[in-house]
Amino acid sequence: RSLRMRHKRPALIMEDRTTVLAIETSCDETAVAILCEGTEVLASEVASQIDIHRDFGGVVPEVASRNHLLRIRPVIEKALHSAGLTLEELDAFAATAGPGLATALLVGNTSAKALALATGKPFFSVNHMEGHLLSPFIGSNEAIPANLSLIVSGGHTMLIDVGGFNQYTLCGQTLDDAAGEAYDKVGRMLDLPYPGGPEIDRLAASGNREAFDFPRSMMRRPNGEFSFSGLKTSVLYTLKKLEGPVENHLADLCASFQEAVVDVLVHKTLRMAREKGRRLITVSGGVSCNRRLREAFGEACQREGIDLLLAAPAYTTDNAAMIAYVAAHRLRHGLTSPLDENVNPNLPLATPAS
Ligand code: KG4
Ligand code: ZN
Repeated sequence: RSLRMRHKRPALIMEDRTTVLAIETSCDETAVAILCEGTEVLASEVASQIDIHRDFGGVVPEVASRNHLLRIRPVIEKALHSAGLTLEELDAFAATAGPGLATALLVGNTSAKALALATGKPFFSVNHMEGHLLSPFIGSNEAIPANLSLIVSGGHTMLIDVGGFNQYTLCGQTLDDAAGEAYDKVGRMLDLPYPGGPEIDRLAASGNREAFDFPRSMMRRPNGEFSFSGLKTSVLYTLKKLEGPVENHLADLCASFQEAVVDVLVHKTLRMAREKGRRLITVSGGVSCNRRLREAFGEACQREGIDLLLAAPAYTTDNAAMIAYVAAHRLRHGLTSPLDENVNPNLPLATPAS
């Protein structure tokens, strides 16, 4: 009863509902989320450092970790406030353990461990990629169904065959740049603000997707591998040969580049789903909020009669709700982590199929 008096969202608070607070600081976002019973996101706060790193044209690890240190407490407090909970009312704590920037990971990971230690509650060490992988299911209280998953972010482009929770097999990944990295590098070539992904998405909307014929690397190869560095070079050569100012071609360049990326991603994901006999495709990661990517996946899956589940736009780029969601599943499976488990900048998610 006293809880009801004190909290802003009393309707959500029931005595038997487990709450998890998760912290995500693998790159340049200081994120804290609170999840209830694995289904209800009570709070998902993201403090972005993009404005700080923009001047450098990319994320500077040392700058990122210093800013995580400055922001972590206020962001935790903000999340508690939005959820209408106090620290003592939480049941478990979780944090990203990797992959990511070591010094950035340490801030969130150590904070969550300290909270778990101080409150005597369990701690869950979570793989950032598993967060992205399961993010399309946030809000669902069901067991994770079998699916073929594409994760497209700034650091990764990978296809994973998912048998269920904790059953992940890597089908293939990029051999060079991640898709988001290609967006950001092409953005830099076009003098667009960092990160290039959202800018290209916006500009491409008014461009002609067929204006430039950019290469679709690895498209015909029947595996899960990708390569985007040739596409990036091709954009560079095209820019050198361009007649007139780049501004006159900007929308067409963005639309054509984007179409090449999207084409390969959709084509190879659908082929892998067919090969693995999966009837559900999931797509997650920062690039998955791209409008053309979402549209093209929608069209292709409808054509093939395959179900499609895209991460909600708010959970595509880095956030802590996806980390809390994985923790909620681990809680259910009794998979807690020891407090001396280290962070790992190269933490693998899944082993390649043998
Ligand atoms: O998942 P994320 O936040 O961080 C990593 O774990 O890497 O992904 C960030 C990436 C950046 O490369 C950014 O340019 C890209 O996602 N991105 C987009 C869009 N929004 C973010 N790329 C294409 N279209 C977008 N709308
Ligand atoms: Zn990410």
